[in-house]
Amino acid sequence: MQDIASVLSKDSAGKEVTVRGWVYRARSSGKIAFIVLRDSSGVVQAVAHSENFTPEEFNILSSLTIESSMELTGTVREDSRAITGYEVGVSGFRIYQRNESFPITKDQSEDFLLDIRHLWVRSREFTAVMKIRSTLFKAFADFYYQNGYYQVQTPFMVSTAAEGGATLFKVPFFGDEVSLTQSAQFYLESLIFSLEKVFTIGPSFRAEKSRTRRHLTEYWHAEIEAAWLGNDDLMEVEERMMEYMVQAVVENNKEELKLLGRDVEKLKKIKAPFERIRYGDLMKRAREDWGLDFEYGTDLGADEERALMSHFDKPVFVTHYPVEHKSFYHRPDPENPKEVLCHDLLAPEGYGEVIGGGERIWELDVLEKRIEEAKLNRDDYYWYIDLRKYGSVPHSGFGLGLDRVAMWVMGLENIKDAIPFPRTIRRTRP
Ligand code: 4AD
Ligand code: MG
Repeated sequence: MQDIASVLSKDSAGKEVTVRGWVYRARSSGKIAFIVLRDSSGVVQAVAHSENFTPEEFNILSSLTIESSMELTGTVREDSRAITGYEVGVSGFRIYQRNESFPITKDQSEDFLLDIRHLWVRSREFTAVMKIRSTLFKAFADFYYQNGYYQVQTPFMVSTAAEGGATLFKVPFFGDEVSLTQSAQFYLESLIFSLEKVFTIGPSFRAEKSRTRRHLTEYWHAEIEAAWLGNDDLMEVEERMMEYMVQAVVENNKEELKLLGRDVEKLKKIKAPFERIRYGDLMKRAREDWGLDFEYGTDLGADEERALMSHFDKPVFVTHYPVEHKSFYHRPDPENPKEVLCHDLLAPEGYGEVIGGGERIWELDVLEKRIEEAKLNRDDYYWYIDLRKYGSVPHSGFGLGLDRVAMWVMGLENIKDAIPFPRTIRRTRP
């Protein structure tokens, strides 16, 4: 048995091969049946002549349906007319399962395709999407292993909110209630006291009512936390990581990027360093240079970030947001406590926020004050507060939305097309 991709080469020409997979296309013209077979590696054209088969056999070969599963044996020959340059002359076959008709045809509504996502994931487009996702997840982990980080796992059922009550999912729990995690951050902060540098990849849940092109209610969150690291140090780590992740896709997924019609030249430009702009300066520039109606205090949501990021072709770090814009744990800038030592990394081509991170408050009194100001229940945060009592150290970390990065790298219109089984306010099936 061979991969279809490996059959499409000069080395295979003249040889007998057996391939298996799913019927991608099939048609027949009386005495000849043309079959395009697909597997995870690619597609190949095959041709069966009636004289080589019994009438019953040829009847099966000339009435194949899309997405039936089968095995084909035959001899490979170079043929410039075949869609992939090589063709298999069929001498034998086996059917695993023949379906009556496949529900997906051309020009179906977006909603219908989402209802049958479990079948749509087989499309060549979606196969390409998932291969690129796989590269991104691997590249993220590889980068941190190479830089001395440990991978850790944290709970998904929690009772301490990291990102505020508005987007918490509540779940019944033996007569009580827990929440689904919004971020692993607080657990990672606990773990740096033993491992110093940690990362994790897991789902995060947000009861987002906003129906934007970049919000999921369940998304894949890649997070790191490191002791002794400041906001500037962290941004250096991130820009190297981002270059590594994007260039891994450029190198490993040429075919997939081509199939998706992605402009690779734009991705090749994603190299460190990235520009750093203070929030206040960005608002000024938005007004003065780009005529946007922004001022100090403007909240940057999906629309605002799209307007800003159409002016850049590389990601940009936006730093020093006003305290009120960010969660309580961000460390106020000692030089100007009205702003925090944080950053968002905004992706170009209008994509906007893909990372949020920065320095954490590590002094006990400052954290207690911020918890009070944010009107949070101190008891819920007892363990987070404890971390500031027993050998507290300066530290920083960030969270990266892997689906958002995937969406940007692939140049997709909607985040739902960057994940196989999207969860949104309106969708929990399939
Ligand atoms: O900016 P956020 O809310 O930051 C945190 O959760 C921090 N506690 C992370 C940390 O420092 N460890 O989320 C981080 C990233 C965002 O930049 C975005 O890329 C992604 O998570 N994200 C979402 N992706 C898809 N759908 C959503 N609803 C998302 N919400 C956040
Ligand atoms: Mg954020």
